[in-house]
Amino acid sequence: MLIRNRRLRSSEAIRSLVRETSISPNDFIVPLFVVEGKNVKEEITSMPNYFRYSLDLLKAEVKELWEMGLKSVLVFVKVPDDLKDNKGTEALNPDGLMQRAVKTIKDAVPEMLVMTDVALDPYSSYGHDGIVENGEILNDPTTEVLAKMSLSHVKAGADFVAPSDMMDGRILAIRQLLEKENFPKAGIMSYSAKYASAFYGPFRDALDSAPGFGDKKTYQMDPSNREEAVRETLLDIEEGADIVMVKPGLCYLDIVRDIRNAVKVPVAVYQVSGEYSMIKAAAEKGWLDHDAVMLEQLTAIKRAGAQIIASYFAKDAVKIL
Ligand code: PBG
Repeated sequence: MLIRNRRLRSSEAIRSLVRETSISPNDFIVPLFVVEGKNVKEEITSMPNYFRYSLDLLKAEVKELWEMGLKSVLVFVKVPDDLKDNKGTEALNPDGLMQRAVKTIKDAVPEMLVMTDVALDPYSSYGHDGIVENGEILNDPTTEVLAKMSLSHVKAGADFVAPSDMMDGRILAIRQLLEKENFPKAGIMSYSAKYASAFYGPFRDALDSAPGFGDKKTYQMDPSNREEAVRETLLDIEEGADIVMVKPGLCYLDIVRDIRNAVKVPVAVYQVSGEYSMIKAAAEKGWLDHDAVMLEQLTAIKRAGAQIIASYFAKDAVKIL
């Protein structure tokens, strides 16, 4: 034999020398769940060891993240039921929970990169990502609200907005309004290929945002489709997205690679709540090695072509790196 592939695997030194993929704190965006109240740090039942924070406790949390080398956060809010309606009124409140959360984080750690989730579902009395009329999710009236919502987040101090709704044309609507209102530096991280996935279940528990009727299949993508993901993503870049995203992660790594090969902008992956909870549950039962499986999945996501990973494992991973 002239070629023996095992030579390059024979010691940790040679393996680390030829390793193609590595993970660092720089890769992560940390999702944060924020609630009203004081002194609240409540564990999300279906997401073990993941918490919702009130604003006062959020400060300490983001300081800790920064000290660990985690420099980007993605903020989600749990909106009280009495503030939900079918128009996203509360989403535009300059003194709403999201807007206060952004200010709180920037106060605590001014250098932290703050991204905000832009979608109507946590604000919607129907639990949908858009305005509902006769059982239908309206597109254009929704994009108008999403643009205003983005502007409101940016005015509060957000560096990036992250539209997660999958309405058509929303990136263009957001970009045009931000330009018009003179916020040219605000970034857009678009959930470009977001699938109608069953892996979002625990997240919807966390925010109490499950759809009240039907499902999200008329706007989120069909898990059976591959070419469409590239088409969606190229369009978002044309409309002004700075970073594109595939969501969920593990089941969609073919999509990640297709998009990596097709675009020249940073590609992110959202390793979603269900992916997190599956590993936690299996590890609790003693069926899987938590840290090893976590690192293997994160590595696979990067190897597939993602430069950025939004993950509930960010802290766990950085602690053992
Ligand atoms: C809301 C939104 C969802 C997630 C991120 N933003 C849920 C959904 O689309 O129903 C899911 C994140 C996760 O499961 O971790 N537009």
